[in-house]
Amino acid sequence: MEFMLDTANLQAIERFTQAFSINGVTSNPSILKKEGKIDLYAHLKKIRTMIGMEKSLHVQVVAKDFDGMLKDAEAILENVDREVYIKVPVNEVGLAVIKELKKRGVNVTATAIYTQIQGLLAIHAGADYIAPYYNRMENLNIDPQFVISSFAEEIHRTNAKTKILGASYKNVAQVTTSIDCGAQAVTVGVDVVEQFFAHPSIEKAVEDFAHDFEEIHGVNQTMS
Ligand code: E4P
Repeated sequence: MEFMLDTANLQAIERFTQAFSINGVTSNPSILKKEGKIDLYAHLKKIRTMIGMEKSLHVQVVAKDFDGMLKDAEAILENVDREVYIKVPVNEVGLAVIKELKKRGVNVTATAIYTQIQGLLAIHAGADYIAPYYNRMENLNIDPQFVISSFAEEIHRTNAKTKILGASYKNVAQVTTSIDCGAQAVTVGVDVVEQFFAHPSIEKAVEDFAHDFEEIHGVNQTMS
C-alpha cells in the first residue's frame, strides 16, 4: 500500500510524517484554499523540501481548456520541480491533456473520478495514478467498491502500470475498503487520519499497561 496525505497544511505534514512512512502528498485547489492566500509555489516547494524528492507530490491544474491546462502543468513543473504529478480532472478535454502530458513524459494523476468509464479511459490514456472519489461516489449512490474493483481488474488484465489512488474519504472504513478492493494507494485528509487511533480500546490498553507497571514499581518509575 502507498499512503499519502491529502493536505497542504505544513503543520499537519510535519506532524504526520513523524508517525507515518508516507509515500506522498496530494492537493487540489480546494485543499490549497484552506491555507489562505499563500505564495503558491513557495508553499509547494516547502512541502517538497519537507517530504523529499523520493516522495510523490500531486498538484492539480485549474484551467478548463486544453491550452490552459497544459500551461498550468508547465508552470507547476517549472516552479516546483519536474517530478510533480500533474492532477488532471477526467473529462473530454482532461483526457486529451493526459494523453499529451504522457507524450511529453510528465507524471500524471487522473482525478475527479466518479464513474467506471472515467477511470477505464484514464488507465487507457496511460495515467500514472487514477483517483476515484470514494465518498463523493457514495453520496451519488455510485458503488465505489464495484468501481475500484473494476479498475483493479482492468489494470491486472491489461498489465497497465497505472495505480489506483483512492481519494475523498470521510471515514477509516472507506480507506481500508478501498485497499481491499485493490487500490494500491490511498490519500487521506487530516480529519480521517486523526480517526485512525480513535478507538477507545486502544487508549484503554495503553492506560491499563501503564497502570499495571505502576502498581508494582511505583508511580513515575520508568524501565530505564
Ligand atoms: C484528492 O486529492 C482529491 O482531490 C480529494 O481527496 C477530494 O476530497 P473531497 O471529496 O473531500 O473534496
